[in-house]
Amino acid sequence: MRVGVLTGGGDCPGLNAVIRALVRKGERQFGDELVGFTDGWRGVIEGTTLPLDVERCRGILPRGGTILGSSRTNPYRIEGGVEAVKDNLASLGVDALVAIGGEDTLGVANKLWDEAVPVVGVPKTIDNDLSATELTFGFHTAVQICVDAIDRLHTTAESHDRVMVCEVMGRHAGWIATYAGIAGGAAEILIPEEPFDIADIAERIKRRHDFGRYATIVVVAEGAAPKEGTLALQTGELDQFGHVRLGGVGNLVAAEIEKRTGFETRVTILGHIQRGGTPTAFDRVLATRFGIAAIEAVHEGAFGHMVALQAGDIVRVPLAEAVGELKTVDPDFFGHVVVPFFG
Ligand code: F6P
Repeated sequence: MRVGVLTGGGDCPGLNAVIRALVRKGERQFGDELVGFTDGWRGVIEGTTLPLDVERCRGILPRGGTILGSSRTNPYRIEGGVEAVKDNLASLGVDALVAIGGEDTLGVANKLWDEAVPVVGVPKTIDNDLSATELTFGFHTAVQICVDAIDRLHTTAESHDRVMVCEVMGRHAGWIATYAGIAGGAAEILIPEEPFDIADIAERIKRRHDFGRYATIVVVAEGAAPKEGTLALQTGELDQFGHVRLGGVGNLVAAEIEKRTGFETRVTILGHIQRGGTPTAFDRVLATRFGIAAIEAVHEGAFGHMVALQAGDIVRVPLAEAVGELKTVDPDFFGHVVVPFFG
């Protein structure tokens, strides 16, 4: 078979490990020819490809990013985009397509499957917010990067008796903030799912410091928002999937904490550092398992499905199920495991 592969959306550590697994298993076991489309759906629209074979994939397992490139191009937002996708797949003789991406990339895959394009999905995002899979690769790496940073913030915070606000990614779901905050011993964790009250936060921080010199770490997800009417947030521009560009709530939170407590406060916005560099061993293994499962799904004709991790096993779920609803942090979990440690 001739199998196309693309990586779409924000990049994430482990993408190359998926590509490598697909290529090795596809070429060696099934005798496939793999074709890489460059820059996500843009490459399929424009018909720009890279040949993929075992030789070309040597050495990419530990490399972050994606050798195929990525973009947030949406064929449904470009005139003639969907027709171009279908025409190019036909003219390039591509029998099946593997789309590696998050909710946006897989949302497009799902719509194309409705139009009979043979596509299999692989879940990717550092945000870990895709339904139907317990984990996406990249999340573990991102959390580890955040925890390493928070550990470092602790020591400098202690030296200066400061409050350190650490802003992490997570637009609609606070998984990274929650896990990194727990593992990093944060005094406050602000996530999009639970609007925060800055007055309460400032009070708790004041109480902490009443007991002596304290290093206070506040982890803020970039999509965290104040309770209605308590603080104003600024908005940014939109991408092709209608998402606003975030980044900056940490500055606002830090300024308010300093103003309300009188304690010196500093901000670290980890930004794209969370997505760069080498994947953890865990993510390499998960990505490899997903790649193998995806090429098997192609050969079993399981189109319109995404591979997923459930109870330790790799399973297949309909794409529609995977992109129907975002997986957000469970309020019970947050209430039981996170909130009791506040302050
Ligand atoms: O891919 C998910 C993500 O990393 C989000 O956590 C973040 O909001 C967004 O991508 C950033 O997008 P960009 O790299 O386009 O600025």
